[in-house]
Amino acid sequence: MIITKLEIENFKTVCDKETLSFSGGLNVITGANGVGKSNILDSIGFVFGEKDKRVDYNGFFFNKKNDSGKAAVKITTDDNQTIERVLKQCTSGHTVSKYYINGKLSIKAKVANFARQIDTQLIDDCGICMNLKEAENYAKELKRITKNTQIIAVSHSKPIIDAADKVHKIGKI
Ligand SMILES: Nc1ncnc2c1ncn2[C@@H]1O[C@H](COP(=O)(O)OP(=O)(O)OP(=O)(O)O)[C@@H](O)[C@H]1O
Ligand SMILES: [Mg+2]
Repeated sequence: MIITKLEIENFKTVCDKETLSFSGGLNVITGANGVGKSNILDSIGFVFGEKDKRVDYNGFFFNKKNDSGKAAVKITTDDNQTIERVLKQCTSGHTVSKYYINGKLSIKAKVANFARQIDTQLIDDCGICMNLKEAENYAKELKRITKNTQIIAVSHSKPIIDAADKVHKIGKI
């Protein structure tokens, strides 16, 4: 099972809503420094209930420019299943976190179980500190690995971007 669609709403750098479509094979997210590339990978971990190393409390997930009090990320898989996590800020100041599988309210453990069936590997900053030759070899290796699976990676490296089956340019570049 692979990820085909990622819908991000009011999460970290995403103000309002952004939708990304992924293919099988190598998918590369590229854009200028600080534009929110890593935040896109973080949003996938967020859906799966993983602890975000860069965030120490739930309120940090809400986009700072949007005061809707809601943040949501939804993943669609190639067999048309959906997995979603929604955070809501209550008037008391508490943050409520809810998980949904195929539109039905679920629990974190079931979501983690579902996540284990997804054959997607996330790589942040791949190829950034490589010279051209190393990057070309790495791009070939990534293509080889992705034959039967999916990689969603962040990279500025041209050989890796060129090798990608799908490239997402985000922000102003
Ligand atoms: N809750 C939030 N609301 C708005 N902006 C946020 C929020 N949380 C983080 N950011 C912003 O996200 C930006 C960093 O995003 P990210 O780390 O994804 O960038 P990047 O594109 O991966 O950068 P680099 O190329 O340096 O790795 C920072 O500018 C930070 O202010
Ligand atoms: Mg980054």
